[in-house]
Amino acid sequence: MRAIITGVGHFVPTRKLTNKDLEQMVDTNDEWIVSRTGIKERRILGKDKGTSYMAVRAAKKVLKQTNTAADELDLIIVATSTPDMLVPPTAAFVQSKLNAAKCWGFDINAACAGFVYALATASKFIETGKHKKVMVIGVDKMSSILDYEDRNTCLLFGDGGGAVLLEPSDEDDLGVEDFIFHIDGSGIKYLNMPAGGSLMPASHETVDKKKHYIYQAGKKIFKYAVTEMADISLKIMKKNKLKNKDVKLLIPHQANRRIIDAVSKKIGLSNDQVVINIEKYGNTTAGTIPIAMSEAYQKRMMSKGDWIIISTFGAGFTSGSLLLKWAIE
Ligand code: UT7
Repeated sequence: MRAIITGVGHFVPTRKLTNKDLEQMVDTNDEWIVSRTGIKERRILGKDKGTSYMAVRAAKKVLKQTNTAADELDLIIVATSTPDMLVPPTAAFVQSKLNAAKCWGFDINAACAGFVYALATASKFIETGKHKKVMVIGVDKMSSILDYEDRNTCLLFGDGGGAVLLEPSDEDDLGVEDFIFHIDGSGIKYLNMPAGGSLMPASHETVDKKKHYIYQAGKKIFKYAVTEMADISLKIMKKNKLKNKDVKLLIPHQANRRIIDAVSKKIGLSNDQVVINIEKYGNTTAGTIPIAMSEAYQKRMMSKGDWIIISTFGAGFTSGSLLLKWAIE
């Protein structure tokens, strides 16, 4: 039994935060942001709404697209670093708002790699025959953990997410083929949100010292991301005897346009083999890959039988490459 993606959809909030807007908030400018990151604007969810708001909207699109009733779902996995609450899992909010009456669910926190890890996890539940319909969602409300006075971080990230439905297929050469994942805790100090967890619970002091916001050492992450994303993608291609011309699309994590370009070059892919939408949304963390996949599907960039490589990296450091054969006509 193989796990295939039978539907894909995404949701981003309507409110845009442009580079011009950011010029009014921190010492930066449109030219710098576009040339260093490729980002022109990002989406921001209303303050009164949580991550599950976007997750539910993306999931509903997938249910409609695949003609699936919510109570047919066996499992919901939500990949996010910005849960509605630390307890309970965001999957509980999604289950209840979808009225998915017969399923179980949980969250995965693997930062930007979360969606890809969730996809691999879900594929195993399908392959065993244990489950028939699994909703996998990657979504983040990054605006909830950003300091809009810190130009090192606030211009890079945005809010949004996407979802896929995984189902079993008897065609044994379609769907999730392989994955290679890494975690390397030497990266903890380069990208983290220090407070709010068990190590540094919230206090007046943590709030005063701005410890509930994302901190990053941009240059260090940049180098790691380029090397790791390229190496791991080349490794999965070699392992599966694929040449660069055999790859229909690379769907990379969208963190910086220059990272994506460097990775594509190292793998030897042309522009039309790479999905890029960072200019519109910035880095939506666990949201980037399902959003990019959904837009690529809408634009008919892939057909049944095409090889797709998904490549990601994020805080941890976490990283990974997943190879799949597209299954939708
Ligand atoms: O999912 C993982 C999430 N994180 C990432 O992927 C981050 C990866 N890293 C990056 O994307 C890049 O390192 C950044 C976009 C964060 C920064 O780009 P950079 O090319 O590494 O810039 P830099 O920090 O080396 O700064 C270059 C110059 C400096 O000026 P001088 O010293 O050359 O005169 C900075 O002061 O740009 C200046 N600068 C800025 N100028 C305007 C730094 N930040 C800004 C800014 N606006 N926001």
